Amino acid sequence: MAAKTILVLNGPNLNLLGMREPEIYGHDTLDTIAGMIEDRARELGLVADVRQSNHEGHLVDWLHEAQAEGAHAVLLNAGAFTHTSIAIYDAIKSIRTPVIEVHLSNPHTREAFRHKSYVGMAAKGTIAGFGARSYLLALEAAAGL
Ligand code: DQA
Repeated sequence: MAAKTILVLNGPNLNLLGMREPEIYGHDTLDTIAGMIEDRARELGLVADVRQSNHEGHLVDWLHEAQAEGAHAVLLNAGAFTHTSIAIYDAIKSIRTPVIEVHLSNPHTREAFRHKSYVGMAAKGTIAGFGARSYLLALEAAAGL
């Protein structure tokens, strides 16, 4: 992994962006957003490695990989696992690589079950509520770390 690689990890149902509740998550597909992230990363002198999985263990494995391979930072949109996963909380706590929590929507303005974030309890910081731009703002934060 190049020294300035940013792993951008996306959790469950984010593969359906573009058609999934567009009034909440917008009309961009994950591929389109990945392109935007890669372009902005290049401008910032970074390399973005954008991944998605519907499986909790994949996200845990990728967090470990971020540390093992020396990634500069991780941007993590864990989807609904944000609100449920102690395994992801533990994985973030287990690595020294900084993790920035990202959400397209602002979970605090939504259902009460979205107000608790295990990811946020372990992350360096959180950017939420700016649609696809949340990832770009998080990239800028990561560049400055
Ligand atoms: C989300 C917010 C989560 O509450 C939800 O489960 C998602 C998407 C977001 O990006 O806004 O899947 O992480």
